[in-house]
Amino acid sequence: MTVRSAGPDDVDAIADLEVEAFPEDAWTPEYLQVAIDGKMPTVRILVAVDDAGTIVGHALLSVVYEIAELQRIATATEQRRRGIGGALLDASIELARNEGAERILLEVREDNVGAIRFYDQAGFVEIDRRERYYRDGATGIVLALELS
Ligand SMILES: CC(C)(COP(=O)(O)OP(=O)(O)OC[C@H]1O[C@@H](n2cnc3c(N)ncnc32)[C@H](O)[C@@H]1OP(=O)(O)O)[C@@H](O)C(=O)NCCC(=O)NCCS
Repeated sequence: MTVRSAGPDDVDAIADLEVEAFPEDAWTPEYLQVAIDGKMPTVRILVAVDDAGTIVGHALLSVVYEIAELQRIATATEQRRRGIGGALLDASIELARNEGAERILLEVREDNVGAIRFYDQAGFVEIDRRERYYRDGATGIVLALELS
């Protein structure tokens, strides 16, 4: 498995993973296409590709000066707990560092226990809570990782 920047041919596969992992607010193929075309200058998209060339995960990151926002990481459901999310997170951290970020922030639903464990074991710490952050009223937990 390798992690690389997403290209135009990856749009449909990423869009499928978006629907699978985030059915409530998936990024559409059109939106992803704009981002991959470089028309959202702060947005970076990484994909994890298995040995057969199949996209098995992706990460969406936005870097603005010293702050990187990890919009999301997703691994294909049947491929979870094999280190793919961790590889995407490592690559996202490296990318953020290379672009000058000093801190990575993200929001995660408080009921997304698996993701909270995932980020916790990677060293993220809770810095805030945003009540009713999500459309269905769920609370968002703001997590941060200091890069310096
Ligand atoms: C969160 C997510 C990206 C993790 O991806 P993954 O490929 O399974 O992650 P990894 O295999 O690299 O897991 C690394 C470690 O994180 C922790 N972890 C990951 N998923 C976990 C879960 N469901 N429950 C508890 N711990 C978990 C474990 O410590 C794991 O190590 P281990 O398998 O040796 O115990 C994946 O579950 C996912 O796509 N979820 C749906 C989308 C989502 O909620 N994304 C995060 C919010 S933006």
